[in-house]
Amino acid sequence: MKKTFLAMALLALAGSAPAQTRTAFEPGKTWPDNKGAHLNAHGAGALYDQGRYYLFGEHKVAGPKGNSAQVGVHCYSSKDLYNWQDEGIALAVAPDGSGSEIEKGCILERPKVVFNKKTGKYVMWFHLELKGQGYAAARTAVAVSDKATGPYQYVRSYRPGAGQWPLGFKEEWKQHRPGEKDLKWWTPDWTKAVAEGLFIRRDFQPGQMARDMTVFVDDDGKAYNIHSSEDNLTLHVAELTDDYQGFTGRWNTIAPAGHNEAPALCKKDGKYYLLTSGCTGWAPNAARSFVASSVWGPWKQLDNPATGLQANITYNSQSTYILPVAGKADSFIFMADRWTPKNPIDGGYIWLPLSFEGDQPRLRWADRWDLNAFNQLKDKAPTAQ
Ligand code: DGJ
Repeated sequence: MKKTFLAMALLALAGSAPAQTRTAFEPGKTWPDNKGAHLNAHGAGALYDQGRYYLFGEHKVAGPKGNSAQVGVHCYSSKDLYNWQDEGIALAVAPDGSGSEIEKGCILERPKVVFNKKTGKYVMWFHLELKGQGYAAARTAVAVSDKATGPYQYVRSYRPGAGQWPLGFKEEWKQHRPGEKDLKWWTPDWTKAVAEGLFIRRDFQPGQMARDMTVFVDDDGKAYNIHSSEDNLTLHVAELTDDYQGFTGRWNTIAPAGHNEAPALCKKDGKYYLLTSGCTGWAPNAARSFVASSVWGPWKQLDNPATGLQANITYNSQSTYILPVAGKADSFIFMADRWTPKNPIDGGYIWLPLSFEGDQPRLRWADRWDLNAFNQLKDKAPTAQ
């Protein structure tokens, strides 16, 4: 008792009140860390490692400047997913004027960390836009660390698939076609041309564009970088090398001309489920869902997974990750961002339980929920399909 009083008094003297222990998720509400500051991990991914969860996200600052990277990737850790301890900046941007690809002022989005069992290293992938080039560079970049919390060392960036055609790409699709660049967007001829490689041919030499992304590690240890490519028209899935730090050259397209961003992937009962958003900048839109028996496809598009009020704008959020709950079979948390681009540091987090009705992933809004929701979801699961 005396010790607790002393600890409280010391914290009060230090100017920071102890954050209350949280026992539930409250989507959209301010989410204080152990120091009482709202979590600063946007476009986040999460990793479960040796009994702890680690959250990695874009550290945003106040004001529109905060939409570019001023600080780097922020890391938090937690044992229960409700209470997060500030672990500081896992990957710091390089100083202004250093000429580094991750120099302060670049755009560094959607960091995702995976652990590589072969090398014992933590590997962070993210979407990188070079400073001063808007979203034109469209690169995916990698950094590594010996510890989950970092510090991560920047390795390099990629345009994936340089000089490599996707799986199943037909011989006759490899040649440029006269007038293909002048086709009117969204017409049936243009849509067919996109599916037959219009943009893939354009970017064959430099490599394919890579913007919004996620990383997925399969049961067999193979990892994949899934990213929005071809001017955000088509998603690409690209296999990573055994050390997860580069690409093998095997890749494929998902939903050509489907205009998907914000990919998030999970696997359940041997099937792969992909949630995405449409492309409306920082503004929310309706989520999409897909299922496949192989990560290489074919991917079948399903319905908007969200239900109820604001399902058309994914409860005012955009997907960033699907987190499997450790030790709870078939329990997945849908993680999404509520962006506030005028003051990015205020951005909120929408975490909801992801359920399944047959093959259809489902999201339902909850003002407050806890991990027991997954037991109830299982009770409600349909028995016949
Ligand atoms: C939507 C993407 O999903 C975000 O990560 C970000 O790149 C914004 N577009 C920028 O407008």
